[in-house]
Amino acid sequence: MDGSPSPTGPKVAAVVVAAGKGLRTGGAVPKQFVMWRGKPLVRHSVEALVAAGIAPVVVAIPEGWDEVAADCLAGIAGVRRIRGGDTRQDSVRLALESLEVDAPARVLIHDAARPVLPRVVIHALLAALETSSAAIPVLPVVDSLVRGEAGAMAAAVSRDGLFRVQTPQAFDFAAILAAHRGWQGATDAGDDAQVAVAAGLVVALTVGDEALRKVTFAADLEETEMSVLPRTGMG
Ligand code: CTP
Ligand code: MG
Repeated sequence: MDGSPSPTGPKVAAVVVAAGKGLRTGGAVPKQFVMWRGKPLVRHSVEALVAAGIAPVVVAIPEGWDEVAADCLAGIAGVRRIRGGDTRQDSVRLALESLEVDAPARVLIHDAARPVLPRVVIHALLAALETSSAAIPVLPVVDSLVRGEAGAMAAAVSRDGLFRVQTPQAFDFAAILAAHRGWQGATDAGDDAQVAVAAGLVVALTVGDEALRKVTFAADLEETEMSVLPRTGMG
């Protein structure tokens, strides 16, 4: 198994969270709707998921932006839009609940703010779900790490066992929906893997990709343009 969804294999759906305000990027339009490499940012990853055979793809949209979002996603088969929530975690939970009627076996949860989604990353995640109920793409930390106090370095921190976490994150659908509904954290979880671990799921680590970087600041829209090309997938 290479992890590709197939008509006879387990049904794989996706959630793309695009309901944020993009405050750190700034500008009149939330970053997910900005034109980038000839298309609205959100369209890139949604097209990649659909091209990988994943359906349906539920996209969470901020209140007041549904017409813009419809234009951004026009003509892509298998895409549904829902109203997102106040936090990323709310947007994910609402999107998962909207997928209950479809009863997919597995789901990929992805940030719209990560436009370049290499096929090889999807394949690795789905392959990992053959033996695990959750899987996330990670990359090693390459820079030195330090702990700072009052503007000065207090101590060096070992990089051993530390990774940078990306999306999409892949889960057994029923398990991650239950984990989100049962989340007891006082604050918003940083990502869905944190929700999964809190619910007792084992989260497998797969190989991420530098191309998956997240647009956070306005400069990222320029910088990402010059970033490494995604590795070509296995087909
Ligand atoms: N997101 C969402 N619903 C929210 C908040 C965030 O769907 N209530 C989505 C964003 O659209 C984005 C992803 O979660 O695709 C990652 O969030 P982030 O990069 O923080 O985007 P924003 O929250 O939009 O940006 P900022 O924090 O700078 O306002
Ligand atoms: Mg945010």
